[in-house]
Amino acid sequence: MGFTGIFLILFLIVHVSLNACIWANDGGEMFNKGAHFMGANLVPRILEVGLFIGLILHIIQGYMLTLQNKKARGIGYAVNYKEGSKWYSRSMAILGTLILIFLVSHLSHFWLPNRSQQGLSLGNEIDLYDRMRTTFSGHDIATILTILIYVLGCGALGFHLAHGFQSAFKTFGINNKRYHQMLSGIGFVFSIIVCTAFAMMPLSFHFGWIN
Ligand code: HEM
Repeated sequence: MGFTGIFLILFLIVHVSLNACIWANDGGEMFNKGAHFMGANLVPRILEVGLFIGLILHIIQGYMLTLQNKKARGIGYAVNYKEGSKWYSRSMAILGTLILIFLVSHLSHFWLPNRSQQGLSLGNEIDLYDRMRTTFSGHDIATILTILIYVLGCGALGFHLAHGFQSAFKTFGINNKRYHQMLSGIGFVFSIIVCTAFAMMPLSFHFGWIN
């Protein structure tokens, strides 16, 4: 879980950085250049296959671990074990499920139409900036619901990462008191920055903060 988790964190860093180009306020030129690079080159397209394998493995491992933990402890604890842990560290499967629901909706908005147009070819992408604008800028109920799913999905991702970040490093044995505190702090700040930036993207289109 630690290995696939760190791989997915690296993907999120690339994803949020590339998407942040929408705030260049240049009508999407910089963003679409970056998106075109990712869609038109063999290396990122091969990495994409690795990304989906990593994502599926992470989901399967997560559910299996949750089941194992449940089985290992059939009855409750005599003392209040909740005192020493945060609610989100005990809710990783629920948060992960919320992220999965968001991802299904998210991939159907951008990735699926783009790859359906491209097929196996390199290049020939749709205008992803324009697709974002049309997805998020309406004021009808469907658009508001979509934005709500995105903002809630980003919130769930934030809490999932706040625990998952330090937990991934723990898996590799980086686990003394000093490192634990440091990694928890870095993980917390990382989660806030990444997830706030992601959540601001649909909101920026919706409220016309970018053009
Ligand atoms: C909330 C703001 C977000 C926006 C506006 C956004 C936008 C996009 C766009 C435009 C693509 C490109 C599709 C393509 O290249 O065909 C994409 C792909 C993707 N996004 Fe997001 N994204 C957001 C957040 C997230 C989050 C939070 C996650 C993960 C939890 C995520 C996971 C993915 C995945 C897995 C892909 C497919 C990657 C690929 O192989 O190209 N996205 N997103």
